[in-house]
Amino acid sequence: MAVFNIALVKGDGIGPDIVNEAVAVLNRIGDLYGHSFKYNETVAGGSAIDKLGHPLPDETVEACLKADAVLLGAVGGPKWDNLPGDLRPEKALLGLRSALGLYANIRPAILYPALRSACPLKDSITSGGLDLVVVRELTGGLYYGERGRKQTPDMGEAAYDTMIYSEKEVERIGRTAFELARRRRKKLVSVDKANVLESSRLWREVMHRIKDDYPDVDYSDMLVDNAAMQLVRNPGQFDVIVTENTFGDIISDEASMITGSIGMLPSASLGGGTRGLYEPIHGSAPDIAGRDMANPIATILSAAMMLRLSFNLEKEADTIEQAVIAALNDGFRTADIAGGLPAVGTKDMGAAIRDRLH
Ligand code: IPM
Ligand code: MG
Repeated sequence: MAVFNIALVKGDGIGPDIVNEAVAVLNRIGDLYGHSFKYNETVAGGSAIDKLGHPLPDETVEACLKADAVLLGAVGGPKWDNLPGDLRPEKALLGLRSALGLYANIRPAILYPALRSACPLKDSITSGGLDLVVVRELTGGLYYGERGRKQTPDMGEAAYDTMIYSEKEVERIGRTAFELARRRRKKLVSVDKANVLESSRLWREVMHRIKDDYPDVDYSDMLVDNAAMQLVRNPGQFDVIVTENTFGDIISDEASMITGSIGMLPSASLGGGTRGLYEPIHGSAPDIAGRDMANPIATILSAAMMLRLSFNLEKEADTIEQAVIAALNDGFRTADIAGGLPAVGTKDMGAAIRDRLH
């Protein structure tokens, strides 16, 4: 029996609610296919601040480095909002991403036919469907560049963050995106702000340099403001989008809304090897934490991505994705995608998906 070691970071807010459902789904997959998933629960984010005084304790990083993959819920909440930047719960995510070298964040956005009415765009815009992937650079740019504060002579205090990218950082995420596009509809759009930012001009130069290695992929550049517009004007034009960290953060939230709810979007963060971190793209939603209201689908789909990308369990991943579609087709909806109709809770949605795994 194959054994897979998973570091579990349930995190804050709805984190435990949604991770518990994903674990139950994984366990059922283990029973069905004869795999053993071993979990090592470890703390990060606000709960780690409360327990150990730091958002990302060393022991958490070690546990994640030792595991085959990390499954994470969400971190953060108003309780920790007034802490200095380096001690905020979000620092745990940023620290983990960089400690594990996870520079490639893969965020697929699919509009399932059953959820078409939950999509805020007109039918005429989404009738062609939506199936795109945002490939977000995850360990560079503004998130990790030099930042600070200084006094100005006459304008009070100033604060700055630096968007910095090296050729190699751009090249490796570019190649990830080209390879992915190759396995899909072979269309790649690189999103930047090369009309203004020097970091974007380097980004574009590198992309143009490597694109000749992928002649089978239809490549184009798009400015980020235009991309934000095109996503709501004609989202069906996109297959794979590659972009830097901050643009990817924003564009992926926008893409998620087109799928009906931010509660639907999974993500995988990968580096050079097979170890990855899997998490929903949404936050910790403290207002509904522990109330059996959160949508567990993004986390369950993240677990499916973990099976496919870190464990090479393609069939098992498909089984989960098909079960999610079946539950949606059978009318199961959490509040965020119910459109005012009766909704089920987190646990019932998890159970509905588990019942459809076969
Ligand atoms: C995301 C989140 C994080 C990010 C936050 C919580 C730090 O918004 O994963 O998209 O900005 O990367
Ligand atoms: Mg985000």
